[in-house]
Amino acid sequence: MSDQLIIFDTTLRDGEQSPGASMTRDEKLRIARQLERMKVNVIEAGFAAASNGDFEAVRAVAEAIKDSTICSLARANENDIRRAGEAIRPAASGRIHTFIATSPIHMEKKLRMSPDQVVEQAVRAIGWAREYTGDIEFSAEDAGRSEIDFLCRIFEAVIKAGATTINVPDTVGYNVPEQFAATIRTLIERVPNSDKVVWSVHCHNDLGLAVANSLAAVRAGARQVECTVNGLGERAGNASLEEIVMAVRTRKDIFLCDTRIDTTQIVPASKLVSSITGFPVQPNKAIVGANAFAHESGIHQDGVLKHRETYEIMRAEDVGWTTNKLVMGKHSGRNAFRSRLVELGVEIKSEEQLNHAFARFKELADKKHEIFDEDLQALMSDDSSEPQEHFRLVASSFHSETGETPCARLTLSVGGKEAKVESGGSGPVDAAFKAIEAVADSGAELLLYSVNAITTGTDAQGEVTVRLSKEDRVVNGQGADTDIIVASAKAYLNALNKLHSKLERVNPQV
Ligand code: KIV
Ligand code: ZN
Repeated sequence: MSDQLIIFDTTLRDGEQSPGASMTRDEKLRIARQLERMKVNVIEAGFAAASNGDFEAVRAVAEAIKDSTICSLARANENDIRRAGEAIRPAASGRIHTFIATSPIHMEKKLRMSPDQVVEQAVRAIGWAREYTGDIEFSAEDAGRSEIDFLCRIFEAVIKAGATTINVPDTVGYNVPEQFAATIRTLIERVPNSDKVVWSVHCHNDLGLAVANSLAAVRAGARQVECTVNGLGERAGNASLEEIVMAVRTRKDIFLCDTRIDTTQIVPASKLVSSITGFPVQPNKAIVGANAFAHESGIHQDGVLKHRETYEIMRAEDVGWTTNKLVMGKHSGRNAFRSRLVELGVEIKSEEQLNHAFARFKELADKKHEIFDEDLQALMSDDSSEPQEHFRLVASSFHSETGETPCARLTLSVGGKEAKVESGGSGPVDAAFKAIEAVADSGAELLLYSVNAITTGTDAQGEVTVRLSKEDRVVNGQGADTDIIVASAKAYLNALNKLHSKLERVNPQV
């Protein structure tokens, strides 16, 4: 058995299926570049058949990334597989990941297909995929609730047809570690030619067991784990990449394998994904939470000062906590700004875009003397002043005084026309949102409002996430500014722009 554990990252596909986590092509590219820098083996860049936007995003990632395999998901039908095959064509190394459900409940109630038809369709799917690549992954959706004899049968058939990776998803997060490990062990023992393929697992976190189940499967012989940065993903999310990688690295004695991941890129990846999707990381989250390496108790602090290993099993710097660099200040020039963006994986599409971003950087540097990578990432995620946006904040003034009703006065650009608006509210943020709605009249419901400091210090930028829902769509908007009321207004407008753009997305599991 190989001692190399393949890390298959699905932040850009399953992660994107979290309500509100839709990403644009450019955002996907930025995350993909960071995943490549982290040395992820396989990047699942999307579900090419879902929409033209998804197709373009997978293709752009396939064109840009050289050191990771680029994969597209595809249901087991000809159209999906051909779209996936076309999208990954430019990749230096490309994979098609096709799936069909195998549990009795999914086959009968969702697919309305007999087990024989499901096996036949899976085998045909591998045949179509082989026209594009020799690297083919097959997933038995809802394997965690499928019958073991049927799993053995379908896996034997798809291996014979040419599948090279066999993925066993616990789609609904129903399994527990011992049971899941036993399933993997049995499959490896019973499926003919099991030694010719890589066994993979894909666990959801509905019972909080995604990482535990994945690691139990590794002990049972799985050599690929599908995971996401910050554990983003459908419902309660997927197994978190950082926890899998650090568990295996820290306890090599138990797992008897390791990954090729550059762990110092973990925290930058976590911050980037959080900033782009607007999903904050809880402070006590393992590895990437702000408190993951903070010792509060006096006894612990004393112990760590005397001998670090008394209370620390990993070093903060090994997962990238110290890599946030002071990059620039107010005197930094345009060339230095451009090079740092390139290093951060930000694509600069035109000189005009660079000039615009540089002007915003100078404004920020006037307010905040030390500019970190995180500030630059937030600046590049913030499109609230881009001329092409439908809703744009032109100017703002807020008034808040003891005994007075807080008030917001905004100048907004709506479809290129300027509108001045004023509103009161229970606080300045409430007043700003009411003022925006007085013009936008979106009818959207506010589901979430959250503020986080991007870096430390009272001059840090506040990063605000606003989640809005309208009809059956949920979108997250982000805004960053040293003034958190302005950041809030920008985040609200960003969410409205996403609703306005009507970006459609199909969930592959529906
Ligand atoms: O959870 C799941 O079953 C999936 C498959 C498409 C692999 O995401
Ligand atoms: Zn999934």
